[in-house]
Amino acid sequence: MRQTVRAVVPFIIALSVLVAPLWSATAADPPIKALMGDNFQHVQVMLYQLMTSNYERLPGDVSAIHDHGQELTTNPPADLSGAAQRTFVAYAYQLENAATNMQVLLSELLTHDSQQVEAGKLNIDYLRVSVARQFGEVITTCVLCHNQFRRKVIQ
Ligand code: HEC
Repeated sequence: MRQTVRAVVPFIIALSVLVAPLWSATAADPPIKALMGDNFQHVQVMLYQLMTSNYERLPGDVSAIHDHGQELTTNPPADLSGAAQRTFVAYAYQLENAATNMQVLLSELLTHDSQQVEAGKLNIDYLRVSVARQFGEVITTCVLCHNQFRRKVIQ
């Protein structure tokens, strides 16, 4: 298992380096493209930190996703209006909210982790599971919004 993880991690990092340029924005692209490319990189790094139990390295990426969610609520794509715009903004709030919940859980986890208490006396595994579930919420929200607003095959 450990060897498999060791083999997979460099692959994930290489993948994020290779894939990211595909989504690097050009001047003609709408700002949402650059923001989404960033989202993609942040969630990959988050997955890596979760799998390697580097919880203290997570807050920066989670906070970036939170800020992107907030940005999407205030600046939805200009070609959306009426019900479509409201749905888009609702998903953007959902993303912001999922990231906020992850931030709260993480800060709780990091507080407990930093306490100098015998490891056996601290049952914080449930917090780790909750953080991972909340990461699942973040990804589910990406998919919910993409189902409706990003159906096209990425070229
Ligand atoms: C509120 C809606 C919404 C949410 C939430 C959302 N996206 Fe997107 N995403 C879009 C839209 C719309 C596009 C298409 C943008 C375009 O092509 O102009 C897109 C495009 C993308 C792209 C392709 C960019 C490109 O250049 O073609 C990636 C990658 C991406 N999103 C990743 C994510 C990730 C990862 C998350 C979750 C952390 C996420 N998105 C959450 C709406 C959303």
